Amino acid sequence: MDPSLKQIIDSYDPAAPLSEASTIPAPWYVDPRMLDLELKTVFARSWQVAGRAEQVARPGQYVTDEIAGAPIVVVRGNDGGLRAFFNVCRHHAAAVMTEPSGKAQHLRCPYHGWTYSLEGELKGTPEFSEVSNFDRGSMGLVPVEVAVWESWVLVKLDPSGLPFESFPLDVAKFHWFERRHYHMDCNWKVFVDNYLDGGYHVPHLHASLDAVLDYPNYTIENGERHCLQSSPMRTGDRALYYWIYPNFMINVYKDAMDTNLVIPRGIDKSEVIFDFYFTDISKEARSRNLASIAASERIQDEDTAICKSVQRGLASRAYTAGRLSVRRETGEHLFHRLLHADLKMGL
Ligand code: FES
Ligand SMILES: [Fe+2]
Repeated sequence: MDPSLKQIIDSYDPAAPLSEASTIPAPWYVDPRMLDLELKTVFARSWQVAGRAEQVARPGQYVTDEIAGAPIVVVRGNDGGLRAFFNVCRHHAAAVMTEPSGKAQHLRCPYHGWTYSLEGELKGTPEFSEVSNFDRGSMGLVPVEVAVWESWVLVKLDPSGLPFESFPLDVAKFHWFERRHYHMDCNWKVFVDNYLDGGYHVPHLHASLDAVLDYPNYTIENGERHCLQSSPMRTGDRALYYWIYPNFMINVYKDAMDTNLVIPRGIDKSEVIFDFYFTDISKEARSRNLASIAASERIQDEDTAICKSVQRGLASRAYTAGRLSVRRETGEHLFHRLLHADLKMGL
């Protein structure tokens, strides 16, 4: 008989110190029941990146997204306030805004033309005059918590989730350049584990990266719900790799930054959305910036291949859980303990 979800979650021991800890067990990466539980607990209860702050700087500007499987719209009101709502019409549940981003005077549903103000109030309901007991005032779009941190807009679907753990970054000098999507044949947590192994895989898997990093002096610092990995570079600068629980990474270099947003697309599929930023996005800098993206893509290809290999191994009967390097893998240990705490809430 298959073990219950509770047995699967309980088979991880979050109390073990790093030197004695195991990774989360293989079924967390391969049992299809895990995905629903994660959407409900991990993704709905954490702050999720919904867009860039500059996309919603002016009244009427909006972005739409799917967060924890739910359609969301973030919009700047005429009063200057930033709000987020479920992008779900109160009439028959269609998505009200259908473009990824844009600027609007009001929010009009394409299905039967119901109209909401930029502040989310229901304003227009065609052919509804004979409907009785209809309280228009309570039929606005359903709000979601929203916050702006540094260059990003974040939303949190479930009010029971914790406040955002904010810390300062020096990223205002970077300008958004381009977005790319990568489709991975692995559970989303395999990509995060790979990111959080403290550079352990760099000398073995990424020869081109190893040539520019001062690997022995790599440092790893855990926060409450984030981890900063950092490496001196041969050029004298430092590379900073921030991971924000559960699925957002910010990689900061001297003249460039990229972010990685990891989205589960199935128990063994994920999509990683890379946004590339540079201090100089002028026409003259374009070919240099594209070359930098191409270099990052070569590393991403190596990671894509190893993540696929790990997913296949996790699904094999040979593997139940692994151990962690004390020197390198403290970030992964934090990730696994945070996951365990969230998943327990859903049982
Ligand atoms: S579903 Fe939006 S107007 Fe009918
Ligand atoms: Fe890598």
